[in-house]
Amino acid sequence: MANVVVLGTQWGDEGKGKIVDLLTPGFDIIARYQGGHNAGHTVCLRGRKIVLHLIPSGILHSGKLCVIGNGVAFSPSAFLKEAAALEGFGGSFDDRLVISRGAHLILPYHPVAEKIAEERKGAKKIGTTSLGIGPSYEDKVARCGIRVGDLLDLEVFREKLTLNIAEKNALFQAAGFPAVDGEEVYREFAGHAARISKYIGDVSLLLHRKMGEGKSVLFEGAQGALLDIDHGTYPFVTSSNSTAGGVATGLGIGPTRIDEVLGVVKAYTTRVGSGPFPTETQDDRGRLISERGNEFGATTGRPRRCGWFDAPAVAYSCRVNGIERLVLTKPDILDVFEEIPVCIGYDYKGSSLSLFPPEPWILEKVVPRYRMMKGWKTPLQHLTDRRRLPAAFLDYIKLIEDEVEARVCLVSTGVERKDSLLFEEELEGVVDLGRVKKDLV
Ligand code: IMP
Ligand code: MG
Repeated sequence: MANVVVLGTQWGDEGKGKIVDLLTPGFDIIARYQGGHNAGHTVCLRGRKIVLHLIPSGILHSGKLCVIGNGVAFSPSAFLKEAAALEGFGGSFDDRLVISRGAHLILPYHPVAEKIAEERKGAKKIGTTSLGIGPSYEDKVARCGIRVGDLLDLEVFREKLTLNIAEKNALFQAAGFPAVDGEEVYREFAGHAARISKYIGDVSLLLHRKMGEGKSVLFEGAQGALLDIDHGTYPFVTSSNSTAGGVATGLGIGPTRIDEVLGVVKAYTTRVGSGPFPTETQDDRGRLISERGNEFGATTGRPRRCGWFDAPAVAYSCRVNGIERLVLTKPDILDVFEEIPVCIGYDYKGSSLSLFPPEPWILEKVVPRYRMMKGWKTPLQHLTDRRRLPAAFLDYIKLIEDEVEARVCLVSTGVERKDSLLFEEELEGVVDLGRVKKDLV
């Protein structure tokens, strides 16, 4: 079967958690390739809401192998907390979870460094999740990062830590922040090492062998393509490659192993944190979307900014990720609107733009051009037959497909697995439909 990437095409929170959970029965392995516990993947299972941050959502399905790649920024304390909260779901995972020895650790000095950097930026702050994700990646690129595999030899770990602590503390003191106690960090991490060393392994080799045996992989993206460090709205981005390119480097596999990239797209747009957002709507309609869609950050609880569907942004995302198939989520949130605007281009300094400019200094000044779509005014939730969908909703899908040049192959109309419409012809050969459908009820 195919190896498929499932990633967000907007600024995150497209509903990837539910989609990955829904498709997992059709795959053998679920792999995270970037990001850290800044991600928040909400899954509803048997009436209970579970939010996963670091561990792949596949963990909720017994028998599925879950891997955390070298491209992930790894916090042992966040991991252990999440692992404890998962007890009782999907059975034990001691023998089906592997953490790459190459993943970079998040250490207690990383959130401090982030606080200093954000405060210095003042009004220009990124609005990060404050979990130390960015500074961990900074150390990786500066070649002073400490990796998960370094915990396997505590002498190696201590040596690297001692060097880093001295440097960080000099910076913290200059900024008026208290020093971090290196000995305390060492003891804490020696404790973590004892508990997580059983999970540490060579993820690249493992995937190579398993794929050789014919096992299929679902690559689970975190954040969204427009938050990608290279292709997003830089500098208002996260610090990793959330786009499909990150899959190969973040797991140590070749791009030839990726068969398909499924783009998850919300029927409207949201964004958490700072940065340009051309279709943002701060009037009553925006508040209605926020309430109906429960648009609050799964990790930080911050209200998400809400706005209309931005077709040039998603078209851009499809281009940089090689997306031909889309999963449309949360159209049911728009059930109540008489009319729904869809952005199909922008006006900028007297001329029209049809392509998405990722530069914030341009995006801040563009004026969206909207096509007014008729609302369907019918509850979409529980509709499982494509032929019974309201005509106005089919028009909405068609406009998105035409504008972004990709086909919708799955529609999610609620948080539960059963609130899903599979367009079977479109999904043929991408996922094992038999196995996915069996778990749908
Ligand atoms: P960082 O990833 O904590 O460095 O935050 C950088 C930006 O990405 C901020 O605007 C965050 O709000 C945003 N961000 C990070 N992770 C997520 C996510 O999982 N969903 C949505 N936004 C995110
Ligand atoms: Mg999220």
